[in-house]
This record gives sequence, C-alpha cells and structure tokens, in this order.
Amino acid sequence: MFKHSQLESVKAWLAHPTHAAMPLHARIQRAIRQMILDGVLAPGKPLPASRPLAKSLGVSRDTIETAYSQLHAEGFIERHVGSGSFVAEMTEFATGRRISRRDPLSRNQTPNLSKRGNAMFSSGGVRELLAPRPFAHGVPETRSFPLQLWERLERQVLREHGTQVLLHGDPQGTEALRSAIADYVNLERGARATPDRVLILTSSQQALTLCANMLLDPGDRIFIEDPAYYGARKAFDAAGLECLPVRVDGQGVVVEQITAETRKVKAVFLTPSHQFPTGATLTLDRRLALIEWANRHQAWIIEDDYDSEFHYAGKPTACVQGLDPHDRTIYIGTFTKSLFPGLRIGYVVLPPQLVQPMTVARTLLDGHSAPLAQLTLARFMEGGHFGAHVRTMRSTYADRLGVLASLVGKHLSHFVEAQVPIGGLQMSCVLTCNMPERTAIDVARRAGIEIMGLSALHANGEPKAGFLMGFAAYTPNEIEGAVRKFADALGAVAKS
Ligand SMILES: Cc1ncc(COP(=O)(O)O)c(C=O)c1O
Repeated sequence: MFKHSQLESVKAWLAHPTHAAMPLHARIQRAIRQMILDGVLAPGKPLPASRPLAKSLGVSRDTIETAYSQLHAEGFIERHVGSGSFVAEMTEFATGRRISRRDPLSRNQTPNLSKRGNAMFSSGGVRELLAPRPFAHGVPETRSFPLQLWERLERQVLREHGTQVLLHGDPQGTEALRSAIADYVNLERGARATPDRVLILTSSQQALTLCANMLLDPGDRIFIEDPAYYGARKAFDAAGLECLPVRVDGQGVVVEQITAETRKVKAVFLTPSHQFPTGATLTLDRRLALIEWANRHQAWIIEDDYDSEFHYAGKPTACVQGLDPHDRTIYIGTFTKSLFPGLRIGYVVLPPQLVQPMTVARTLLDGHSAPLAQLTLARFMEGGHFGAHVRTMRSTYADRLGVLASLVGKHLSHFVEAQVPIGGLQMSCVLTCNMPERTAIDVARRAGIEIMGLSALHANGEPKAGFLMGFAAYTPNEIEGAVRKFADALGAVAKS
C-alpha cells in the first residue's frame, strides 16, 4: 500500500478545487504521475493493488484500473499479470527527456538561462495583486463597472461580425479601435495621431518592452526619471540598457541634467502628465527643451501617459507627442486605469517610420490583441460610454482622494505627511516619525493593508522614507476602516 503521506497527496489531488472538472481516474493518474516525476515513487516500487487503493480513496475499482491503464500506456508503470503494477525502471517520455529520481524538473533548480533570461527572471517581473486590498496602488474601481452595457456591446459585435472575430486579426489592431483611439488622444490629450500611426498592444508594459528592444541595443543608455515607475525600469534593465537616472523636482524631470550629458544617450523615459510616483507635471518649457534635445541627438522620447484621464483640478496638460514636430516621441497609453486591468489593451502612437517595424516585432511576441475585446472597446468609445465612464470615475476618485487625505490628516498625522496629488489613483505620504519605511510596510501588511514603499523607486540621492496609498478602488467605508486599522497598528508599534 502507499505510505500515509503518499495516500494523502493523492487525496489532496482528488479534493483540489482546480481539478474539479477532471474525471476521478484522471486526477488519480495525475497524482501518481506527479509522485513518479518528483521521485517520491522510485523506479521498481510496487503500486498498491487496485482493490485496496480503491477502498482507501473511496472510489470504484474501475476508476483505479482506468488510472493505472493510462499510466501504463504513457510508460510510467509496468504491469505484470499475477504480480501487480510497478513504477517503470526507466521512463523515456514523449519529450525525449530521460527522467530519473535525481532529475525531477524541480521548481527550485536554477535553470540554465541566457544573460537576458537571467535579467528578466531576476527582475522579479511585474505582478499585481489578484485581489487588491487597501491601499494597493494604481488599481481602478472595477466593482461598479457597467458590465451589462459591455455585455450588450459585445453581443452586438458578435451578431455583426459572427465567426469572423474568432479568426486572427490585424497585428496592428482593428481599424475601428485605432480610429477611436486616435480621435480620443487628439481631442483629450492634444496628440497628433492618425489611425494608421496607432498600434494596439496588450499593455503599456508590452509597449515599454518593445521600445527597449526595438530602439536600443544592450549597453545603450536611456535616461529615466528618478524616482521611476518600476515596470519601466525592469523592462529597460531586462533589455540590457544602461539606465541613467534623472532627478525629478516639483516641475518634473530636471532637463538640464539631460542636456548637459556628454555621452551618447539614445532615449528618455517620462511620465510627464503625472510623474510616477511624485505626481509632478512636467512644465511646458521643459517639454520643449526635451523635444529640442531629442531632435538634436536623434534620440527618442518614450512618453507613458498612464493615468492622465484622472486629473481633479482642471484639465491635464497636453501630451509631449502633440508638441513634437520632429516625430521623435512615442506615446504610450493604456486602458488599465481608465477601464479595467483585465481588459489587457494598451496602445502606442508611433512616428510613421516606426509603425511597420513595431507591428512586425509585435507579431513575434503575441501575434495581436483579441479582436472581440478590441471591437467591443471601439464600440464603447464610439458610443460615448468611455467618456461617460471616465467622468463618473473622475468624480468618484476625487471624492475618495478627499476622504483619504482627510482621514490620513486625522488619524496618521503623528506618523506621516500626506502629499495630496492633483491627479492619479494614489497619494504619497512621507514618514515624519523616525520609523523606518520597511517597518511601516510590514506593520501595514500584518494589518491586511498594502502600501508601496517610495525608497525602492529611487535610484540615487537620499529618498524621503514614505509610501504610496492607492485610493481609487476602495469605498469611503473601506478607506476609513483601513486607515483606522493602520493607525492602531502603527500606534502599537510606536509605543512598544
Ligand atoms: C506609470 C505606469 N505605467 C503603466 C502602468 C501599467 O499599465 P499596463 O497595465 O498597461 O502595463 C502603470 C501601473 O501601475 C504605471 O504606474
């Protein structure tokens, strides 16, 4: 019979909710196969007879027989009439890989990756919380999203386009969505876009990776804001670029540092409308100076306009792309903040000469974005629903920011000073007590609260200790509950 722990691991496979759709025999077969692959069941080891195993697992003997037959057919076990079933001595599988006890495909083994592979892996990637809790940053409100409307538009698309949407789509994106985006960025962001210059992608992150690999070679230099958006920094590091941090003050990046640089630098990465994480807006004279620098050096400006929809005091300043007559700017937009992150649609507005190269490169990454989602979004935008949704969210977020700022003032003023932003989905707070930033983050996490430390976003200088608090996705009640909890937890630590 199996040892107790082996029996328990088969039972765990049987009971696991993610295996619920699998027939019982397949679950048992997979569980035993995994134990063989992991070396838990060694070659030559006899498997329990089907009758007692069926009894211990509370299944029929036929179920065990089917599982064993499948294991036998795949070469994992040998069956001898009269003496039973055994783990195969040597198992050569369809992959051609010989698997022995010492060679399980272990998750903990260090894989033999390329330099680029290592850089990508060791960056830790960009993973967001699957179930955001206060005060995870950058998350929009999704619970009140007009799902019924979205569903209706999706049905309309399916009725009109039929099975056509099930086929491959244009790698540049559907014409309807490219037009809707061009109209939107021209009107709302002061861009100079035409549908044929828009490339639909899955995200800003994909745009950053494409720019890093298509416009620069490993070892090339790129200016990035300091502090900077971690997703950009990771994309550039993974592409082997040398990032040159540029200080950010209240007016955005300090352009003098860029213009004074004597070494060759091929690009600059910016979040000009609402700097991540400081919230500064890049002033017009600095924008013009950057455009002039890019033109003089034939460098690229990579403009990430990630949350410009949410400005609470007047309109955001027009984007850099619209001011650039020399076509040195790549404008990146995303629907992650303005609609919902699961949509996975972002885009770039490209200089004409980059449209073909970027579109072809994109086909090597993921082919194209899903036509059904693109056409539904196009309809959502054409029907004025996007504008209406953004307006509703803007007022919701403005209220929530007000609630958060006043609660932080009331309950957390012994610990932090809030820097109330004019836009965006998060507020930064600077620690004013002598608690280390790491302690504040750990205290928050233990209280079920998520905050992002500011220090790690800085490359140079003496960053002020503090953190970002996202507010957009949480109701005023949730914000209040979490602020109070955080204040109590910080208070307890400060006293101890
Ligand atoms: C500056 C910035 N750009 C881009 C993104 C993410 O956009 P996407 O989901 O399209 O990659 C974020 C998300 O936090 C961000 O803060």
